[in-house]
Amino acid sequence: MTTRVLTGINTTGTLHIGNYVGAIRPAIQASHQPDVQSFFFMADLHALIKCQNPDRIERSRLQIAATWLAAGLDPDRVIFYRQSDIPEIPLLSWMLTCVTAKGQMNRAHAYKAALEANVENAEDPDAGISMGLYSYPILMAADILMFNAHKVPVGKDQIQHLEMARDVATRFNYLYASEEHPFFVMPEAVVDTTHEVLPGLDGRKMSKSYNNVIPLFEGGAKAIKEAIAMIKTDSRLPGEPKDPDSTSLTALYEAFATPQEALEFRQKLQNGLGWGEAKEELFEHIEREIGPMRARYEELMANPGKIEEILQEGARKARAIAVPFMARVRGA
Ligand code: TRP
Repeated sequence: MTTRVLTGINTTGTLHIGNYVGAIRPAIQASHQPDVQSFFFMADLHALIKCQNPDRIERSRLQIAATWLAAGLDPDRVIFYRQSDIPEIPLLSWMLTCVTAKGQMNRAHAYKAALEANVENAEDPDAGISMGLYSYPILMAADILMFNAHKVPVGKDQIQHLEMARDVATRFNYLYASEEHPFFVMPEAVVDTTHEVLPGLDGRKMSKSYNNVIPLFEGGAKAIKEAIAMIKTDSRLPGEPKDPDSTSLTALYEAFATPQEALEFRQKLQNGLGWGEAKEELFEHIEREIGPMRARYEELMANPGKIEEILQEGARKARAIAVPFMARVRGA
């Protein structure tokens, strides 16, 4: 049996190596397995919820598409598309909206967090909260259920959204499908725990909101080097034994090294390798993997027409599934 794997990335910003190690690299590796049909897409309808700057969304969408392709996504193997090119998705989203309890959406983490922040700041509880934010989990359910994905690789913060997708799917099946021919299979979140914890420069999870990231392509090798220079370490001098786990440098190195290299790196630190040299080694290892991709990335960014062609072909393949599927749903 073919396993369908689907994941999306919001197009509101640029990507950092945490996104690459935690999401893009494992997704592309998984897509090369036999018996896997992968769907990767740019969640640009979701992006509208948080960002009303059209240029930023447009640029981010292009950068993220170029990143997937530069990182080795094979558009002949994978269905690779822009959410907004598939009008059946917002249609399905509406049909699901009509069978979703409002009370369930009240419990969504992102909405609750916005609400609580308002209350804390003595604002109206609904201040700045759009219906888009409120309905976010239903649009995400439509993304997933449209292609009947079995597995959805996501970060930990998205697990609740997958639970909601299952609930919505169950309810829709119950109301409109026969037991022998349900519309939707139950999707499952896949959380990669090894790299979920990729730390940033200060040891906290690498995240744009903490301002502790190593950029992936933007700013080139220079920006990577500058970020690495800011990784926190203690003040031990070259020659003094160091605790490899006292800094995020080691975990970052491990994300780009073979197990053997990782072991040797730890031993060298214990034997007194200087932090400066250790950072130089980290840079070389990141560059070994990212450097060749950066060349492809830049070539693609200089050729937006080529990216557009690939996305149009992806939309065609996605719609070849979505259009007949929605005809069934509409029939019901
Ligand atoms: N909500 C996801 C995030 O913020 C992005 C996303 C949108 C998504 N639709 C999806 C992820 C469908 C997986 C499947 O990371």
